Amino acid sequence: MADASHDKLRSAFGSYVTGVTVVTARTDTGDPVGFTANSFNSVSLDPALLLVCIGKGLSSYPAFCNSSHFAINILGSDQKALADRFANYKGKRFEGIEWQESELGCPLISGASAWFDCSLFNRIDAGDHDVLVGRIHSYTDHGKNGLGYFRHEYFSTDNRILK
Ligand SMILES: Cc1cc2nc3c(=O)[nH]c(=O)nc-3n(C[C@H](O)[C@H](O)[C@H](O)COP(=O)(O)O)c2cc1C
Repeated sequence: MADASHDKLRSAFGSYVTGVTVVTARTDTGDPVGFTANSFNSVSLDPALLLVCIGKGLSSYPAFCNSSHFAINILGSDQKALADRFANYKGKRFEGIEWQESELGCPLISGASAWFDCSLFNRIDAGDHDVLVGRIHSYTDHGKNGLGYFRHEYFSTDNRILK
């Protein structure tokens, strides 16, 4: 498919309503890295597996290649600023952000709706992305409302029940 069609394809993908996550890891030297992702999905209950797709062009891609662990932070409805920051900000993304270290050493962002601390179960080469399949070591569900994403816009799940 020619390059000119990427915008249309991206728009078509954007018609799928998702939540928003920040995927985190540490570099070899211990610096926290992370990026906003909506390609997260649950995979398996037994064993407990999830997946997320990472673009090979991301500045944090080498860190995710070298790390055997990563964490998924499911963003809460009040965390749109964090979604923007971890998608666009080119400086130190964790500066001024409250976070703690997971048991596996990954950054867990305060105020998230849920956390999943994972070891790398499988990495699948998939075009301009890799699919990271994570085996869930531990998780916490904080029970908050979530941040949603639809056609390039964020929304909140605060009034989410349709009857
Ligand atoms: C809502 C949203 C969802 C995104 N989902 C993904 C994703 O699933 N995988 C991915 O590689 N990039 C995704 N991105 C883009 C990355 O967040 C962005 O390219 C990355 O943070 C750029 O990091 P860098 O400047 O360090 O290279 C998404 C961006 C937004 C705004």
